[in-house]
Amino acid sequence: MPEMTTAAPSHLVSVRELFGLDTDLTVRAFREPVDHVPDIDPAYRFDHAVTTALLAGFGRNRRVMVQGLHGTGKSTHIEQVAARLNWPCVRVNLDGHLSRLDLIGRDAVVLREGKQVTEFQEGILPWALQRPVALILDEYDAGRPDVMFVIQRILERDGKLTLLDQNRVLSPHPAFRLFATANTVGLGNLNGLYHGAQRLNHAQIDRWNIVATLDHLPAEQEIDIVAARVPSLDDPVGRELIGSMVAVANLTRNGFRVGDLSTLMSPRTVITWAENIEIFRDPALAFRLSFVNKCDEAERPIVAEYFQRCFDAELDRSAMLATSVA
Ligand SMILES: Nc1ncnc2c1ncn2[C@@H]1O[C@H](COP(=O)(O)OP(=O)(O)OP(=O)(O)O)[C@@H](O)[C@H]1O
Ligand SMILES: [Mg+2]
Repeated sequence: MPEMTTAAPSHLVSVRELFGLDTDLTVRAFREPVDHVPDIDPAYRFDHAVTTALLAGFGRNRRVMVQGLHGTGKSTHIEQVAARLNWPCVRVNLDGHLSRLDLIGRDAVVLREGKQVTEFQEGILPWALQRPVALILDEYDAGRPDVMFVIQRILERDGKLTLLDQNRVLSPHPAFRLFATANTVGLGNLNGLYHGAQRLNHAQIDRWNIVATLDHLPAEQEIDIVAARVPSLDDPVGRELIGSMVAVANLTRNGFRVGDLSTLMSPRTVITWAENIEIFRDPALAFRLSFVNKCDEAERPIVAEYFQRCFDAELDRSAMLATSVA
């Protein structure tokens, strides 16, 4: 394998061939995979707008944030673009436990020739910055303020990182890239779905060059994705079933929008439901186990009615009839 730090993305590839998008764009990729390149998921379907934005991030060194509801494919989208470009990629979750020192590094006591010495151990930020690595800051809107201020410094295009205690200034590797995913646009938990989301500093949001949105896809595309994920349902009968499932999901999304429901079905939930159908061989039972039981009890009759409308079957009865588990 080539040494990661000296590799450059010099291999020109067609976006049409690599991502199945209708465009004549080309993009530079690494010739072969090295450490940290994500595995290719052959079932992945690329969204045109989001993929174009991400390719600008990789190709033109733009800082791209992908924002959208949960389970719509934000994190995996970035990873799958990286996988096809052979671009090493590291994901960091900015949950409430990640501290400034985790990012920057800290002095640690280590054993050298039998003696205890203190040594600086670099954190994920200096490590990634000096390599051709796409760093994904996942759950960006959950980050603590001290962490966010560290990141602010490297958001600029040639953003250098100063390690104060070390008296060192690090310049980014030419193929270092920075991405983020977030459920909110930094205005806090406005719709009540994202407990723990912080309001973000707008000087910080301002430094992201591109904000792409990935929300729910048109039904046909969602059906394609689910069928690709659960191939045993990828035949005309199975696709009709998935069509009804996506219809239920869309009813919950509308119900959420107009205030009838306090939760909604994400594409991830639809995939899980399809996988559970493979196990239980019963759409209604699988639906209860994948989604209904996560809903507020008072809202379950509404969800049962959505199911009834799309499947022309009662949710409760067919669930009770299910006896065999494959
Ligand atoms: N376009 C797609 N093609 C194939 N699978 C997809 C696609 N989009 C999403 N998925 C699948 O849906 C699931 C959820 O995706 P992912 O974890 O990327 O969502 P997310 O938007 O990052 O969610 P969260 O906001 O909860 O972090 C994954 O299993 C992923 O493989
Ligand atoms: Mg994610």
